Amino acid sequence: MRDFSFYNPVRVHFGKDAMTKLPEELEKYGKNVLLAYGGGSIKRTGLYDRVTEALKAAGKEVYELTGIMPNPRTEKVYEGIDICRKHGIDLILAVGGGSTIYCCKAIAVGAPAEGDFWERFFVNWEPAETGIPLGVILTLPATGSEMDKSSVVTRFETNEKNGYDSEQMFPRFTILDPTLTYTLPRHQMVNGIVDTMSHLMELYISPPDDDFLTDYLAEATMRTEIDAARKALIDPEDYEARANLMWCSTFTLCGMLNNAKKTDWESHNIEHPLSGVYDVAHGAGLSVVHPAYLEYFLQPALPRLVRMAKNVWGVDPAGKTDEAVALEGIACLRRFFHEELGAPATLTELNIPESAIPRLVALTDLSCFGYQTVTAEDVSAILHRCL
Ligand code: NZQ
Ligand code: ZN
Repeated sequence: MRDFSFYNPVRVHFGKDAMTKLPEELEKYGKNVLLAYGGGSIKRTGLYDRVTEALKAAGKEVYELTGIMPNPRTEKVYEGIDICRKHGIDLILAVGGGSTIYCCKAIAVGAPAEGDFWERFFVNWEPAETGIPLGVILTLPATGSEMDKSSVVTRFETNEKNGYDSEQMFPRFTILDPTLTYTLPRHQMVNGIVDTMSHLMELYISPPDDDFLTDYLAEATMRTEIDAARKALIDPEDYEARANLMWCSTFTLCGMLNNAKKTDWESHNIEHPLSGVYDVAHGAGLSVVHPAYLEYFLQPALPRLVRMAKNVWGVDPAGKTDEAVALEGIACLRRFFHEELGAPATLTELNIPESAIPRLVALTDLSCFGYQTVTAEDVSAILHRCL
């Protein structure tokens, strides 16, 4: 078994009444608040009014950063950094999904640092020495960014989509109210479910193949996610289903499921250029790439894929070879993603032509594999399977 260190300082307020905790959190920080959100869904759902009322009651001076787009871009981060520097922001309050939270994390470490946040952190991975406190109100369960230390930002001019990790980017608090997800359009809910399943597989389908709690927790989380997804598709206001979807996605990336695992983020790496170049939703890209990745690397991951087939998808192994059991498990995953959820199965459905593959391969980071080294030729072969 591998050794590990675990640290997660994020305070989580979960449940129907989680928003009532906002005033006591606001009390802990100074007067100047940057309220950051996306393209306006929080105004349509009424959440904006609830948040601004709480800020007003707490006597805060509020500055707004609006229009944070999916696949958040460097220009929004620069805009936020300017506001923070100009007004001495004491707390950044991110209200929305992963895009808003990622953008705010980059602002949190970029504003107090001298020089260019992109070069220093997202290119050179310098350690951030400090960060402006960040609070989160989550509206879309998917990325797990509400309880982790990661950010991903896109520099669109150069098609670079880079990540950065820093303990300075852990949110100080996160409000998780599952009822805030009732308003999600179906395809956004689906993207979030695919993303969460993909995170779970990146963690679980990686060495070592031993018998440790982490893998049992991952299996339980996958089963819970699948069951809750099926229920939420039938009734979008099924509270228990929405609560499970929200906690599964947060729990998946809080660090617990990394413990003692090597992890394998190569499906995510292959997806990055798809969304970096073609601006497709992250979950939609993963729905295409991840099953093909597992089929391509069937042999090195065989014991773990057999275990997933049996323990997550309920495949009966009697009288079957290990290969057959593993492939049946991946077929269950495909049915779940592509038939039950209706997520895309091919690059063609994402309007990505075969001629784009060499460029996508060239942009793929080959650094995060699990069982085997992944080469550019492997990525090309996987993307050709996705056509
Ligand atoms: O922008 P608004 O108007 O708020 O609408 C958002 C957005 O259009 C909408 N939405 C969010 N909550 C809603 C809602 N609509 C109605 N009701 C609600 N309660 O949903 C849309 C998508 O939001 P976004 O924040 O982009 O989605 P998500 O949380 O899935 O985050 C995806 C982001 O994560 C990044 C992606 O690039 C993308 O920026 N990545 C996530 C990674 C990961 N989880 O591992 C890694 C990837 O490399 C990637 O960077
Ligand atoms: Zn993801």
